[in-house]
Amino acid sequence: MPAIIPRPTSVEEGHGTFVITTATPVVVSSEELHTVAEIFATDITPLFGSPLTVTRIPSRRAISLYLASELGEEEYTLSVTRRDIVVTGGSSRAVLYGLQSLRQLIDRNRIPAVEVHDKPWFTYRGAMLDAARHFFPAADVKKFIDILALHKLNVFHWHLSEDQGWRIEIKRYPRLTQIGSIRKETVIGRYDKSDESRNRYDGKPYGGFYTQGDIRCIVAYAAERYIEVIPEIDMPGHMLGALAAYPELGCRGEGYEVWTHWGISKDVLCAGKETTFEFVENVLGEVLGLFPSKLIHVGGDECPKDRWKECPACQKRIRQEGLANEEQLQSYFMHRVEKWLHDHGRELIGWDEIMQGGISKSAVIMAWTDQFRGTDAAKKGNRVIMTPKWNCYLDYAQTSHPEKLEPIGPTRYLSMRQVYRLDPYDRLKPAEYKNILGIQGNVWTEYIADFGHVQRMTLPRMA
Ligand code: ACM
Ligand code: ZN
Repeated sequence: MPAIIPRPTSVEEGHGTFVITTATPVVVSSEELHTVAEIFATDITPLFGSPLTVTRIPSRRAISLYLASELGEEEYTLSVTRRDIVVTGGSSRAVLYGLQSLRQLIDRNRIPAVEVHDKPWFTYRGAMLDAARHFFPAADVKKFIDILALHKLNVFHWHLSEDQGWRIEIKRYPRLTQIGSIRKETVIGRYDKSDESRNRYDGKPYGGFYTQGDIRCIVAYAAERYIEVIPEIDMPGHMLGALAAYPELGCRGEGYEVWTHWGISKDVLCAGKETTFEFVENVLGEVLGLFPSKLIHVGGDECPKDRWKECPACQKRIRQEGLANEEQLQSYFMHRVEKWLHDHGRELIGWDEIMQGGISKSAVIMAWTDQFRGTDAAKKGNRVIMTPKWNCYLDYAQTSHPEKLEPIGPTRYLSMRQVYRLDPYDRLKPAEYKNILGIQGNVWTEYIADFGHVQRMTLPRMA
């Protein structure tokens, strides 16, 4: 059976093969299809050394593209015979999905005759790249987006801020990138959090950030491929990049440095000071101007409460707002940010810890610590993206003997089989399925310093 990933709704084998040459035109029946035709014609250039010709003139022995209103927005058919290839979709997005399936079928210059009908199960099909622990230049980010596009994923979740570096230009706060994007060195090999004296550092400053121009360019590149970019500004934890640049945002107000090793910092944004919320709103204001996505990811994971417990401003906020504890202070923080996002026409998405201390029904939960936290959220009526670490963390080792076969990485092992084992609907009633928007694979990059290594970890498990 011809291999198309993800597996289409139906695939029927035909007889013979279509031979594709540099003379095979891509025929578009309407102007709307021009961009997706050009993307396909260019993507297969490496096979022929030059792109195929895109034309409006009907032709034999062609790849012909059509729109059909009876098909859904993401639904297509692909028909390959010895004589010609026809892709029909409910929208230009769907036609591009048909062309991606076609790309996957090309074997040198031959395509097996086949009839494919396909539409996706989930509306949200995502992949996350952590561009903060290590920085990947814009050209690499586009290659990552190409990998998503080939597999018909439709969301790129871009993790842009961390303890180890702030990676997005914010005009109002220039020190975020001048200071917050640079760490003075990086730990070598696997970080030992139990005994700092065993860690070695490389002594080399490390930095990088995306200008607002880079970001506009990447968002547009993704949009042409029907991929929405969801930015993540992780808060109130994972904020040392910002704290190093603007120490007044922290509870202690001084002594912060961009982190040079991995782990979870106890230094987080102060939830007591009003200036913290002004900062968050101003940053998000610029983020909203760059990213048209309805969902805006504000992290919310791994926020230790140590500083809040000893901070007069945070304790005063707890008293004044009648909060029971620091967990509820985080809930207060998230609710405030969510209200601001709603006032600006957007919706909040966060990691599953945002449920601690209570979260509104409208928040979207990204379940990572445990699938069944997502299940519980879906039962309560929240919308959920499933990305449980034991199925979806693509930085985990790919072999059971990574010390022999792989570069250094997390000690956990995620096999291909285990990726496939995820059943996002497990323990849900059919009436609750609708709250599972979809699934996502995450590429965290503590131990991934270059894009070749990103690709090695991403494929084949993301596919
Ligand atoms: C996470 O892995 N901290 C979301
Ligand atoms: Zn505080």
